[in-house]
Amino acid sequence: NISMESLSRPSLFDFYGVCMTKYFTDNWDNIQNFKAGPDDIVLASYPKAGNTWVSYILDLLYFGQTSPERQGSVPLHERVPFLEIQIPGFPSGVDALNELSTFPRIIKTHLPVQFLPKSFWEQNSKIIYVARNAKDTAVSYFHFDRMNKAQPEPGNWESFLQRFMEGKMVFGSWYEHVRGWWEKKQSSSNILYLFYEDLIEDIEQELGRICSFLGLSPTTELKKQVTEKVLFDSMKTNKMVNGSTDEVFDFKISPFMRKGRVGDWKNHFTVQQDEQFNEDYEKKMKNTDLLFRTVL
Ligand code: A3P
Repeated sequence: NISMESLSRPSLFDFYGVCMTKYFTDNWDNIQNFKAGPDDIVLASYPKAGNTWVSYILDLLYFGQTSPERQGSVPLHERVPFLEIQIPGFPSGVDALNELSTFPRIIKTHLPVQFLPKSFWEQNSKIIYVARNAKDTAVSYFHFDRMNKAQPEPGNWESFLQRFMEGKMVFGSWYEHVRGWWEKKQSSSNILYLFYEDLIEDIEQELGRICSFLGLSPTTELKKQVTEKVLFDSMKTNKMVNGSTDEVFDFKISPFMRKGRVGDWKNHFTVQQDEQFNEDYEKKMKNTDLLFRTVL
């Protein structure tokens, strides 16, 4: 592995109309040519929507009872590889996926819908998309970019929020990402569209939706186990899932499991920022029936 000092913060550039960095585009041909398997499950989201949370839910549903050693010794980011990642000194997401020997493979991605490798559509893979309201996503992303050495410098909150509104974030515009996947879902029964706010409000209900989408019927005991293990506080203290095995994170700046709430944006947005954000939001999100809750 390379030392953290030699890992530089990447710059953002336009990549087929979406802002990206080298760490997610250097392996592009291998990503686009990725061969999906018939039982692959894709877990897609814009960054900071709760991908880690749902990936742990899926991991427990499929492997919680059969492989206890996996739970204790394999970091979640190895169990659920990140398709498009390619950071020098670490295995690429594509290689990690091709080396997985447990099935089904659960595959994390932040790609906007138009970038998902064709093979997943050809294989009719099941896809779970997780979305989170724009304001909490922006706040979570700001703190993430502060502590993640593989992300561009966030700058101050004011400038970060402006860039968020302009879509100049890694993986592009939040607005286009959530809408692109929402529109795709309208014509595809293989996509389950989840909301972070719903997971917070009623994890049992959402667990039920996930299971029926995947055709799983877990025992009452497993369901109970899953809901307990995926609580924010349980995950925060679980070294295999809380990001502490991820070498590019600096927890001295901010933890990966940070707040885990709906409405933390209120502690960051000024009244003026909120007004400006809302006005801009209405313009960008008109003509869609996709609705988010920013408070519960
Ligand atoms: P905050 O920064 O608001 O705390 P992702 O995994 O897509 O990067 O998303 C990370 C966000 O999901 C973080 O949000 C993190 O705390 C939150 N999260 C992760 N696990 C969670 C859980 N079990 N319950 C609630 N929020 C969770």
